[in-house]
Amino acid sequence: MEADEDALARDLNLLPSEDEALRAARERSHEAGVPLVFAETGAVLRFFTRMIGARHVVEIGSGAGYSGLWLLQGMGPRGSLTTIELDPRLQTLAQRSYAQGGYADRVRSMLGPALSVLPRLADGNYDLVFLDAVKSEYPGYLGHAKRLLRPGGLLIADNVLWSGRVTDRSVIDAETQGLRALLRAVADDPELPSLTMGVGDGVLVAVYEPAV
Ligand SMILES: C[S@@+](CC[C@H](N)C(=O)[O-])C[C@H]1O[C@@H](n2cnc3c(N)ncnc32)[C@H](O)[C@@H]1O
Repeated sequence: MEADEDALARDLNLLPSEDEALRAARERSHEAGVPLVFAETGAVLRFFTRMIGARHVVEIGSGAGYSGLWLLQGMGPRGSLTTIELDPRLQTLAQRSYAQGGYADRVRSMLGPALSVLPRLADGNYDLVFLDAVKSEYPGYLGHAKRLLRPGGLLIADNVLWSGRVTDRSVIDAETQGLRALLRAVADDPELPSLTMGVGDGVLVAVYEPAV
């Protein structure tokens, strides 16, 4: 039974509420042992997607479809999600999640390593790119995101605080280094004004403003 404080927080929209499809996708993710975004992060994805009226979104790292549902909820009825996943078992679970949410015909689910799949996507065609796969590959995803985004489109990356490891100099594993490299690259890029929010495990949001 939910604590009374949590119930009130949901009533006041301080905590996001999940519909049945999101709850089922969360369950699927837990059963499959795949990490998923915090619900608060999902609400951020839905908010930004809606705010910019996104019609075409790319997600790197489908998992069992939980974050994809938040993105789809943020898009209007003509929105479409292109989502990339390495693991065929998770791709199947994610497709089940999209179908349960009523979005089956609005998702292009692509199987394979993101860095091999991304070159197949069209330049300048996307309103938002969401990074949530291999952290050591985030700098590589960034190059593709800039190519894929239309001017004014958003790059969003999850886990940029990495439970505090990103600012702990003693941590030098490839994933943490990948996250640092992404943060440095975005901070140094005048075409990507950005903001990092302490939501969930840290969410970076950058707007693509190409130099003319
Ligand atoms: C953090 S989980 C994604 C969770 C999902 N975004 C959500 O919140 O519901 C990362 C996903 O990336 C996938 N993945 C791992 N390596 C990958 C790669 N090279 N290319 C694409 N996906 C990959 C994993 O199988 C896993 O499903």
